[in-house]
Amino acid sequence: MRDALGLDVSTSSRACVDALDAARGSLLGFRADMALHAKSALAADPDCVLAHVLRGSMSMLLSNVAALDGVDRAIAAATRREARATPRERLHLEALRGWRAGRMSQAIAAWEAILREHPRDLLALRLAHFAYFWSAADPAGMRASVERVLPAWGPGVPGRGWVLGMHGFACEETGDLGAAEIAARAALDEEPADLWSVHALAHVLEMAARHGEGDALAGRAAPHLAGATNFRFHLAWHRALSMMELGAGGGEVLRWYDAAVRDLSSPLVQGQPDLYIDVQNAASLLLRLELAGVDPGDRWGELADHAEARIGDHLVAFTLPHWMMALAAAGRWDACERLLDAMRAHGAASAAEEAGVVARVAIPAALCVRAHRRCEFAAALDALFALRHEIPRLGGSHAQRDLLWQVMADAARRAGRRPELSTLLREVAVARAPHPVPRSYLRLAA
Ligand SMILES: [Fe+2]
Repeated sequence: MRDALGLDVSTSSRACVDALDAARGSLLGFRADMALHAKSALAADPDCVLAHVLRGSMSMLLSNVAALDGVDRAIAAATRREARATPRERLHLEALRGWRAGRMSQAIAAWEAILREHPRDLLALRLAHFAYFWSAADPAGMRASVERVLPAWGPGVPGRGWVLGMHGFACEETGDLGAAEIAARAALDEEPADLWSVHALAHVLEMAARHGEGDALAGRAAPHLAGATNFRFHLAWHRALSMMELGAGGGEVLRWYDAAVRDLSSPLVQGQPDLYIDVQNAASLLLRLELAGVDPGDRWGELADHAEARIGDHLVAFTLPHWMMALAAAGRWDACERLLDAMRAHGAASAAEEAGVVARVAIPAALCVRAHRRCEFAAALDALFALRHEIPRLGGSHAQRDLLWQVMADAARRAGRRPELSTLLREVAVARAPHPVPRSYLRLAA
C-alpha cells in the first residue's frame, strides 16, 4: 500500500499504513502519542516490517541501555519478515541494525541511500538528522543531508514545513544564522505546531544574543505544548537561558526550573525520570545558576540518583559530563570514580563508534567538571583546555556545549590563569561575532 508521502509499504492493511503515517507525524512534531500509533500499526499488521522498525527506532530514541532489549526484539521480528519487505524497508532495517550496534556511519549510510531514491521519506530524513546531531556530531553533514532533499520539497508539497525546520536548525548549527532564521520562520508559517522549528529559532536568538525575543518565543510555543514529549522541557531550558541573560533573579529562574524545565510532578518526567536530554537540561541549568552565584538548594540530589543508576550507559557521549555534574555536585565521589572507570573501560574496549569520543573528549570533560566542583581550578582547566576544540565531537548544540566553556572560563579566573581566561573569552567573542557576547561571559571575565 502507499502511505501519505506516496511511499510503498509492504502491508495490505490500510489501518497499518494510516497508523504509520500518524506515528511519523508524532515523531516530527514531538508528540507523546507516537508509541500508541506504532502499537496500532503493529496491531493492524503484525507482519509489517516497517512497523517493527519504527518500534525499534522509538526505543533507540530513548538512548537508554535499558531499552535495548526492546530494540533487539524489534530487529529480530523485522528480520524474520525481511523477505516480504521492499528495498526501502530493508534499508530502514539496515539502519536500525547499525544504530543498535553503535555503527552510526552504517546507519547514516542506509538512511542516505533511502533518501537518494526517496527524498520524501521523512522518517529516514528525521532519523538521519538526529544521528548527525547527537552521534556523528557532524553539523555540516546534517545540513547537507537536508539540502540534498530540498528540491523534492517545493512550495505546496505537504510536509514541507518539517523539512524547512530541519534546514533551519542545521543552518544555525553550521553558523549561518541568517539562513537559519529565514528557514525556521518559513517552516513555522507552514507548520505552526512544529516544535523543532521553534527550537531552531530559539537557537538563532540565543546565538545572536537576542534574548528578549528568545524569552518571548515561549509564548509562541505554548499553544502547541499539550500532548508534546519531553522536548517541551528543552524548550523551557532555552527560555531559562534567555531569562538569565536578561538578568532574571536566581529565585525566578529556579521557579521556572521547578515549573517547566524539571517539573517532577509531570507524568512525562515520572514516566522517564532519567531521559538523557531532560538530565542535560537540568544539570546544565543548575550549574549555570551556580556559576552565576545562585544556590540551587537540594535539586542536585534526584539527578545524582539517576546519574548513579546510569553508570555504564554511554549511548549519548554528551550526557556523560552531565552525569558527572550531578554526582560531583551531590558529593558522591565514589560514584564519580565509578563513572570514570566505566567510561575508561568503554573507551578502551567497546566497538561502538562513539567509544573513541568517550575516551578522547568525554573523560577529560568529566574530569574538568569534577575538579571544578572540588575547587581544584587549575586541574579543572588543565583537564580540558588543550582539548577544547574537540568538544564539538561530543555532539549537542553550540548553546549546550557553551556550558563547558563557562566552566573552563570560571576555572581559569579562579585559578588566576589570566592568559587562558583571555584566550577563552576571545574565542567566545570571535565565535559569536558580530553578535554581542552574552552577559554570562562578562560576569566570568570580571
Ligand atoms: Fe536546543
